[in-house]
Amino acid sequence: MIPSLVYLLPLYPLATQAALEVDFGSKASIKQAAAQVAEDLLTYYHGDEPGQIPGILPGPPPDGGDYYWWEGGAMWGALLDYWHWTGDDTFNNKTYQGLLFQAGPNKDFVNNNWSFSLGNDDQAFWAMSALIAAETNFKDPPPEEAQWLALAQAVWNEQTDDRLRDGGCGFGLRWQAVSLNPGFSYKNSARLARYTKNDTYLDWSIRTWDWLVAVKYIDKEWNVYDGADISNNCTEIVKQQFSYNAGVLLQGAAYLYNYTSDQIWLDRINGLLDGIERVFFPENGIAYEPACEGGVCTADMLTYKGFLHRWMAYTAQLAPTTSDRVMRLTMSSAKAAVAQCTGGTNGRRCGFHWSSGKFDNLLGAGQQMNVLGVLSALLALDATAPVTNGTGGTSKGDPNAGSSRSPYSELSTITTGDRAGAGIVTVAAITLASASLWWMIK
Ligand SMILES: *[C@@H]1O[C@H](CO)[C@@H](O)[C@H](O)[C@H]1NC(C)=O
Ligand SMILES: *[C@@H]1O[C@H](CO)[C@@H](O)[C@H](O)[C@H]1NC(C)=O
Ligand SMILES: *[C@@H]1O[C@H](CO)[C@@H](O)[C@H](O)[C@H]1NC(C)=O
Ligand SMILES: *[C@@H]1O[C@H](CO)[C@@H](O)[C@H](O)[C@H]1NC(C)=O
Ligand SMILES: *[C@@H]1O[C@H](CO)[C@@H](O)[C@H](O)[C@H]1NC(C)=O
Ligand SMILES: *[C@@H]1O[C@H](CO)[C@@H](O)[C@H](O)[C@H]1NC(C)=O
Repeated sequence: MIPSLVYLLPLYPLATQAALEVDFGSKASIKQAAAQVAEDLLTYYHGDEPGQIPGILPGPPPDGGDYYWWEGGAMWGALLDYWHWTGDDTFNNKTYQGLLFQAGPNKDFVNNNWSFSLGNDDQAFWAMSALIAAETNFKDPPPEEAQWLALAQAVWNEQTDDRLRDGGCGFGLRWQAVSLNPGFSYKNSARLARYTKNDTYLDWSIRTWDWLVAVKYIDKEWNVYDGADISNNCTEIVKQQFSYNAGVLLQGAAYLYNYTSDQIWLDRINGLLDGIERVFFPENGIAYEPACEGGVCTADMLTYKGFLHRWMAYTAQLAPTTSDRVMRLTMSSAKAAVAQCTGGTNGRRCGFHWSSGKFDNLLGAGQQMNVLGVLSALLALDATAPVTNGTGGTSKGDPNAGSSRSPYSELSTITTGDRAGAGIVTVAAITLASASLWWMIK
């Protein structure tokens, strides 16, 4: 190190050392800021460097980094939306390589490296990103490789397999605890139904929604709870609410409404939006994660706001009568999100506590993903709606894909020690927050 440089640095701050700034009346300005947030997000990604594993963020904890396997998949989804909504393809090559590399030997987003952190929802996050690729006509892989639509179908086939549904609580998708995981297969079902016009997917979406209401994961006030323990047949609901759970159901309902034009789905969308606005935008229309924001958030929880905003934007597009409401919330939230991006060495990195009005010193990939999500969501309505097989979608499907996934008991034998590790040490390894909550209430 050259000592004089060290002394020079504080005297001559770099030109780029300025807070993130956006003129919210200008789409070009929003785009430019989103590009900066994306660029800073990608500094956490090293999977395209020699000797690194493509597709994943550094992790999983406790060694190696903060991020579980699923978060890489989620990041590619955020970047696909970013590309689709802004037109900036800077990150498309990394996205393409990352998604395909993690497709795994059976082309179903299962591979043994990550079996420890392979919950249904973890796998579903990768599938959802593959679905975005299909719905945006992202570059199709050559025929011998996995195909976007077929990847999503593979995950769907595996998650609707009887082996993962052992009768617990009626219809739940099992993963230690029965959690909102069915929410993910519901959403994948909804999107596959719209894309392929195959009503088997629609039937599953309807059954899953009805089940979620029957076990009161969704209540009359449109609260969306995180899960329940299978040992008492899901009668003791964990009354914790996370924004992405409500967001999953909202986006799924939007696909179902767009596909069916059935008023019942529009009513559900509007009900869910009532709940979302009340619970997750409690003040001044700024996204807030009530379950952890007053206390400690896990690395997983630090990503949820961005998903919520992106999925709300899909809703605005697929159910146009909601767009004013959704975009009003998106704008107020985006302004608060940007105002606290004053951190890091470049002076424009983002924290998590948007409504606090100031940078909270919490840097990370999730924080960047959230702000990327809300900024790019502001541009969503200018982009084309998700394509389907009948409206120009080119991705090749395979209704029989997948089904090679072993039951969990074979995938990795979970001993009591491992379970405690999953619950206590790594907190949200398995099903984001739900498994850990199951441990807390036990
Ligand atoms: C992506 O990769 C292709 C082929 O390897 C290359 O031609 C193209 O320039 C790359 N695009 C970007 C934006 O890096
Ligand atoms: C699995 O781990 C090995 C060893 O680290 C690595 O070489 C390989 O690329 C990984 N595969 C996937 C799909 O992550
Ligand atoms: C468990 O819950 C499901 C769904 O609510 C219900 O259909 C089933 O009858 C319940 N089983 C028992 C043993 O109570
Ligand atoms: C479905 O989405 C498209 C694209 O935004 C929109 O034009 C159409 O009106 C939507 N369908 C319904 C039933 O709202
Ligand atoms: C998708 O569309 C193509 C023609 O564009 C058609 O040949 C194919 O059967 C369709 N697939 C499904 C599942 O409907
Ligand atoms: C519709 O999806 C189901 C479930 O994957 C599959 O069994 C069936 O063959 C599909 N139908 C068509 C026409 O592709």
